Amino acid sequence: MLDRLDFDRRRDQHLPRLSGLFQALYGSDVATQDQFLQLLGDLEQSWSERSEALRALDTQRELAPDWFQSNRMLGGVCYVDRFAGGLAGIRSRIPYFVELGLSYIHLMPLYAAPSANSDGGYAVSSYREVNPALGTMDELAALAAELRANGISLVLDFVFNHTSNEHEWAQKALARDPAFENFYFIYPDREQPDAFEQTTREIFPDDHPGSFVQLEDGRWVWSTFYHFQWDLNYRNPAVFRAMVGELLFLANQGIEILRMDAVAFIWKQLGTACENLPEAHLLLQAFNAVARIAAPSLLFKSEAIVHPDAIIEYVDPEECQLSYNPLQMALIWNTLATREVGLLAQALTERHALPAGTAWVNYVRSHDDIGWTFADEDAARLGIDAAGHRRFLSDFYTGGFAGSFARGLPFQENPRTGDRRVAGSTASLAGLEAGDPLAVARILAAHAVIMSTGGIPLLYLGDEVGQLNDYSFRDDAAIAGDARWAGRPWFPLDSYAQRGEATSSPGGVFHGMRRLIQVRRATTEFAGNALIGFDTKNPHVLGFLRPGPDTQVLVLINFADTAQQIAAEVLSGMNGDATELLSGRRHPHAAELLLAPMAVVWLRYSDAEHAQA
Ligand code: GLC
Ligand code: GLC
Repeated sequence: MLDRLDFDRRRDQHLPRLSGLFQALYGSDVATQDQFLQLLGDLEQSWSERSEALRALDTQRELAPDWFQSNRMLGGVCYVDRFAGGLAGIRSRIPYFVELGLSYIHLMPLYAAPSANSDGGYAVSSYREVNPALGTMDELAALAAELRANGISLVLDFVFNHTSNEHEWAQKALARDPAFENFYFIYPDREQPDAFEQTTREIFPDDHPGSFVQLEDGRWVWSTFYHFQWDLNYRNPAVFRAMVGELLFLANQGIEILRMDAVAFIWKQLGTACENLPEAHLLLQAFNAVARIAAPSLLFKSEAIVHPDAIIEYVDPEECQLSYNPLQMALIWNTLATREVGLLAQALTERHALPAGTAWVNYVRSHDDIGWTFADEDAARLGIDAAGHRRFLSDFYTGGFAGSFARGLPFQENPRTGDRRVAGSTASLAGLEAGDPLAVARILAAHAVIMSTGGIPLLYLGDEVGQLNDYSFRDDAAIAGDARWAGRPWFPLDSYAQRGEATSSPGGVFHGMRRLIQVRRATTEFAGNALIGFDTKNPHVLGFLRPGPDTQVLVLINFADTAQQIAAEVLSGMNGDATELLSGRRHPHAAELLLAPMAVVWLRYSDAEHAQA
């Protein structure tokens, strides 16, 4: 009964917002109103099916809404098959996740999908079925509960921009079922596709040019990504309602965070780039309102790999509470290549702030390519020509630059636009594969950034033992053309086996990573997102301050291959002695600092002393 009151309270609170959003998207004719009433029925039904345990979680999160901003948060991401064989294997790795300190695990798409190529599972054939090779939906729900009992939130993808061409809806649309033809953008000839393609961008030009692919019956269907991924038509309210059903189904399995895939692309409008349109935000807000009513502890993470001005638009407690931070990611690699911290320092000072109640997911790399998504205008202010610099970076990471330590692969090179992205594992991109003596330190310096800038640091599992590129994808014809697979290795058994040997490279990475993780967990200044720029007066040394209530931590990272000095006067504004948190050593007040190549220092100063000065 109490639960029912809870539902009514939340519905009364969020219904006006949901109804306004629905009207803004779909108007208010009689048929639309009918869809809306049915939607409300769906929410109530879903709530009635939500388990006691999840309702308890809803209450718990409502009382502690900042839970995901804690400095104890640490994410990991992996492919179920590659990392552990299946869901049972993931379950058996829980003790390792706990040992590592994970509080969040993102399992890459594990849904039913086409068998040969499914874009790594991003072509979903059923949101309610686990790929039988990996396990079952019941196993997944049990895994979610077991993870939660171990303090770990389960994160899954909500691939809602498109379905696979094998999805039941796609099959029905193909068969011209009138109830489903409008689930996708299907046109009889090239007229509309030609018109749209005047202004859309090519995302996977290696697969097909433009945004459409031709069906066997001659019609054309919108496919932003692979030809077997058909974009859903959210102009049709029935699509929104259907996807709300899938979303709430997943929430009721115990998924705590949904990674909202490809958010930039979910709304199309002729004459525009069909990316980041205002309606894309309204749609996300509508999904958010739905969750607040029927699965209130569910959070969304935005995956928008776009211009930084556009990324931030998705981050809002009423839209996506979490967002990947691709700018920080790309600029970490920029810093490693150039050994200059200007662009990264600028991004941290000017583009790091977030609305209250939200957080970045900071990462060194993901399962995807690295694109150079910094803003041209930001680069120009530092005297950097963006286009030329992007060319340099892609060259540097893909073997086109003499003396580079990196072993990355080019991805989706587009001769028409000059666009070229980079794929590879952290260790291979950072020099371990090439035998660069600074590689281990470089991997750790990169992770020291994501561990100290706030939000949720997200590890690509296997990178904590320095896993290298895996070239076996070249032997699998179905995926040989997609270089991102180089960076998605199978469980690196040997590297994990060596992780205890401090003199081995895997051991060196693991040992350093553990230290970063342990110290981060104990450093409350690293919670939240407040960050103040700190000019080190040295172009190779990144500096920033993380303020806490009584203390602050000064982060310094030397990205040069040589030792670097921080002059005494640079530190003279800091008061009192500091404690270096990673080593435990005292740093005397305003003494100059000598930083070894790639050295990381986290200096804690007491603000109380500051006040006395
Ligand atoms: C996201 C995924 C990427 C996938 C694409 C299409 O960007 O991260 O791997 O190819 O969406 O679903
Ligand atoms: C997806 C793709 C990535 C592309 C991006 C465009 O994330 O994986 O390659 O750059 O979409 O937004």
